[in-house]
Amino acid sequence: MISQDIDIKPFNTFGISVKARQYLPIYELQDLRLIEQNQPIFVLGGGSNVLFSQDYEGLLVHVKLSGIEKLEETSEEVLLRVAAGENWHQLVLYTLANNWGGLENLALIPGTAGAAPIQNIGAYGAELSETFMYLDFYEFASRQVKRLTKAACQFGYRDSIFKNELKNKGIITAIYLNLKKQPHTLKLGYGAIKEALEKQGSTDKTTIQQVAKAVISIRQSKLPDPQKIGNCGSFFKNPEVPVQQYDTLKKQFPNLAAFSTSSPMSMKLAAGWLIEQCGWKGKKIGQAGVYEHQALVLVNHGNASAAELMALAKQIQHDVYQKFAVHIVPEVNVV
Ligand code: EPU
Repeated sequence: MISQDIDIKPFNTFGISVKARQYLPIYELQDLRLIEQNQPIFVLGGGSNVLFSQDYEGLLVHVKLSGIEKLEETSEEVLLRVAAGENWHQLVLYTLANNWGGLENLALIPGTAGAAPIQNIGAYGAELSETFMYLDFYEFASRQVKRLTKAACQFGYRDSIFKNELKNKGIITAIYLNLKKQPHTLKLGYGAIKEALEKQGSTDKTTIQQVAKAVISIRQSKLPDPQKIGNCGSFFKNPEVPVQQYDTLKKQFPNLAAFSTSSPMSMKLAAGWLIEQCGWKGKKIGQAGVYEHQALVLVNHGNASAAELMALAKQIQHDVYQKFAVHIVPEVNVV
């Protein structure tokens, strides 16, 4: 059923109050038939990576498809079908309860399973693409569900075909993941994970459940809980720069925080560090602020308007460019 003029404050973790002219929740695949392409369409999952800058004058489709199904199982692995509306962290907990490995480093990421491939969610040394097999995509134009392989999804750093060629062309209805039974291959390369495991006293024979616990404790110490303070996680992407530019910056700023990339020609800079160096950590403009424990995260301290958050983001981009000649771009989808 389509409703009119719905306030979507409860449906976005920034807690921005704007209206959607038309609103359609999708509980079952047959509800997709109600979508007409005679207006702009925006597909919403958990609303944890989107900033609405104004009322949405089109049709907001809210994906609430549910169900997790084990399709195949061998002595080594399982293939899961996860409906797009399933909560990501609940899915991670379910896989941990079954002792299936692969998602433990991605614990506590807000949002839905269907949104996960869009920006190829990643954290603490892992990303979705490593367990991902394929997905189902309902294409608006043909009104058909198509299967897209991992290669077809064109995954990159916080990127996929759904942010490019297939943007606004349809809806992910289910994802298919391959998870491993014991023995698990743990990803412990991220320094903070080792520290957290040591604190937990679980360095010997570490389990996937302990890795998840470590990730959860790191996230809780650095990232604000959207239930308590409106936010969308990292607001900007970590920018990639040519090695020459990195070398020049490193001479000027010896503490520059950076990581290598898959290419020897470029380095990824920690945008949180760049922003902190510009003096923005913990600062506010009106009700819009920069989180005190992680400068990459913008927060809504109460009733920030989208305009206030955008003004803050622009000011930060400007200052980072002035100081480092590096352009940082939003990771969050600004609509
Ligand atoms: N740093 C600072 N000051 C800050 C924030 C970070 O100096 O205010 C420095 C840290 O000390 C560290 C480096 O920057 O040396 C990296 O910081 P962190 O480990 O917190 O990770 P990040 O690069 O800021 C990325 C992801 C996060 C993900 C973490 C862990 C992006 C845009 N963000 O953040 O993802 O959880 O790595 O893997 O890639 C998200 O996408 O919403 C998100 C939270």
